Amino acid sequence: MKHKGRIFLVDDDLLIISMLSRALKKEGYETQVHSSAQGIVPKIAEWQPDLLLLDIHLDDDLNGLDILEELKKEKHDTPVIMLTADDTAESAIKAMKIGAADYLTKPFNIEEVKIVINGILKKAKLREEVEYLRKTEEAKAQKDMVGNSPAIRDILDKAGKLAEVRANTVLLTGESGTGKEVLARYIHNMLHAGDPGETEYIPFITVNCTALPDNLIESELFGHAKYSFTDAKADKKGMFELANGGTILLDEIGDMRLDLQSKLLRVLEERVVRRLGGKVDIPLDVTVIATTNKDLLTAVDEKEFRGDLFFRLSTFHLEIPPLRERQEDIPLLVSHFFNLFASKYFKKDVKGLTADEERDLCSYDWPGNVRELRNVLERRVVLENMDVRGPFKEKRGTHYVVLPPTGLALEEVEKDLIKQAMAMADNNQTKAAKLLRMTYDTLRYQVKKYKIN
Ligand SMILES: Nc1ncnc2c1ncn2[C@@H]1O[C@H](COP(=O)(O)OP(=O)(O)OP(=O)(O)O)[C@@H](O)[C@H]1O
Ligand SMILES: [Mg+2]
Repeated sequence: MKHKGRIFLVDDDLLIISMLSRALKKEGYETQVHSSAQGIVPKIAEWQPDLLLLDIHLDDDLNGLDILEELKKEKHDTPVIMLTADDTAESAIKAMKIGAADYLTKPFNIEEVKIVINGILKKAKLREEVEYLRKTEEAKAQKDMVGNSPAIRDILDKAGKLAEVRANTVLLTGESGTGKEVLARYIHNMLHAGDPGETEYIPFITVNCTALPDNLIESELFGHAKYSFTDAKADKKGMFELANGGTILLDEIGDMRLDLQSKLLRVLEERVVRRLGGKVDIPLDVTVIATTNKDLLTAVDEKEFRGDLFFRLSTFHLEIPPLRERQEDIPLLVSHFFNLFASKYFKKDVKGLTADEERDLCSYDWPGNVRELRNVLERRVVLENMDVRGPFKEKRGTHYVVLPPTGLALEEVEKDLIKQAMAMADNNQTKAAKLLRMTYDTLRYQVKKYKIN
């Protein structure tokens, strides 16, 4: 039989002990039983059970509540189910307040015991798993915004002020890879730095507005009530509700569908969310951070983005300049990533950057911004070679295209380059726009104008 878990049982009633341990063993649990509270805490700690069944009224000087208190004081997180003989809820309530997971009243119905134990163990497993995933996610996230340029210092300064006044809506813009998500996390951390209960989890939920399929995004964001549509088999919380008490990051807000934009505006203005098909408004205490690398004003002009939403979002707006406009940050970022990857890949002896390499890094224009720099450094540390790409560095100061003495039509050159970029990007307009260092909207306009495709 499958091993279902280790249960530690403390009760002074030998009959109960033998009855429970027999039933639990039959269910596939491993058990250890004790009838006395003497020196029990170290024994529990040593055996490392998954669950503790603890009698409230033990004969010794110590009763179950004292033991529970001691365990909690020593930060044992094994879930505890209290066993109680009286039906008066009083001592059970006391136990729950101290931190018991549940309680069972004697005489036991063994089926009920099994259900309660199963439920508690399942919950503990889920909690551990979530905790693990969250820790891995957090470890991956960049903690500080590295940089000392006037632009970055100004941004961090403003971010601090926004956190101070507890701004609840912030817009972050900047080219791809400039660190919008890093900044969003920085603001989130500032907002909750002084919060009580350091162990309490404050959610930071990221929603990529382009990654979700059209038919799902609404229920992902706002949740749904059971049967609100065919596949809605149960009530579901949306991301806004999951982020309650913390931060929701709406990534690529510029690509959000227009009908969702109106719903978002309502959420931002009224600070409530209503699940799809739901009947009540659920109050929200959420910081909404929206990011985009699109030019939202142009999108507003072209009726792709709601003007009222833009104004609501842009009250507090921070723009991260591209890396090429804050070259002072490059050496700091280079050494940050160099050390980060040397330690991540256990490459303590990796040879340091040569003067030539450093110069190359500082003179490149970094169209992919910090993300590109990070990738170059990762390859440099792992493969020990550097490949800062792009013609920019060699071409700077010389001509890209030599104008023939007969002249040429500039539009033809432009059209040709756009075609090349589209081919190189497999017709992905976002990527092609990046190759040409133009906004997505400009590219789309040009593609239409030159009837490419
Ligand atoms: N100032 C910084 N300090 C340290 N790391 C940074 C900084 N800026 C960006 N990075 C790193 O660069 C990468 C890209 O950053 P991020 O994801 O925040 O960019 P973004 O602006 O959200 O890009 P996109 O628009 O493509 O989503 C991440 O790995 C991040 O850790
Ligand atoms: Mg991002």
